[in-house]
Amino acid sequence: MTNQEQGKKLAARRSIDLLHDSDRIIGVGSGSTVRYAIGFLKERMKRDGLDIRAIPTSYETRFLLIENGIPITTLAEHPIVDVAIDGADEVDPNLNLIKGGGAALTLEKIVDFAARRLIIIVDPSKLVKTLGERFALPIAIIPEAHETVLRAIKEKYTQDVKIRLASRKLGPVVTDNGNFIIDAKFNAISNPETLERDLNLIPGVVENGLFLDMTDVVLIGKENSVEQRVKDKKSGQVTITDS
Ligand code: A5P
Repeated sequence: MTNQEQGKKLAARRSIDLLHDSDRIIGVGSGSTVRYAIGFLKERMKRDGLDIRAIPTSYETRFLLIENGIPITTLAEHPIVDVAIDGADEVDPNLNLIKGGGAALTLEKIVDFAARRLIIIVDPSKLVKTLGERFALPIAIIPEAHETVLRAIKEKYTQDVKIRLASRKLGPVVTDNGNFIIDAKFNAISNPETLERDLNLIPGVVENGLFLDMTDVVLIGKENSVEQRVKDKKSGQVTITDS
């Protein structure tokens, strides 16, 4: 196993250790790091006899939860989520995120927003100084709007923008919600709050991958330890420990 995979696994394990015995409704994000967390969640439920219902954020996660025998519920039944555990594509020093590398951003944002606590699990490659530094920002759009949204983004923000193409299907990626994904490379997003709002005002945009001021804890899995960054939502202060 590579150091990166080992780190993902350690971060995933720690996120399950951080669950409270009273947590009943767990939002479960998507991606390769969350995949490990599902395995550890199954173990903890068995060991501690926890009565948990999970809300998946993608078909992939839904299938994994079912495979692991973890009961599933919906936001309709449980609109308040005790805690959500999710991955990320970029994390900045204020614990703001870019997500959507797996095209699951819309449901992830809804579930993460509904959560009382949001725990993000990553390896160190996801840490950036400024959002947009490495990763193109994913934007979910209504298929009919692809030309008009592309044009609007090119006119106002960046020429480096394209529809995400599928790899084992001809044409574009179609998300679990029937949307297309546009990937827009910004290089450095200086004012993410304004960008998040303005992008969602373009007709046809469903959601974008900026997850701002939502995260409570980021767990960064390294080879032999986990760095824990905890944000005090009132003061905005981030406390860092490593163990
Ligand atoms: C899914 O759409 C993304 O938001 C994922 O959370 C993100 O891509 C992280 O995935 P990995 O854990 O596989 O890096």
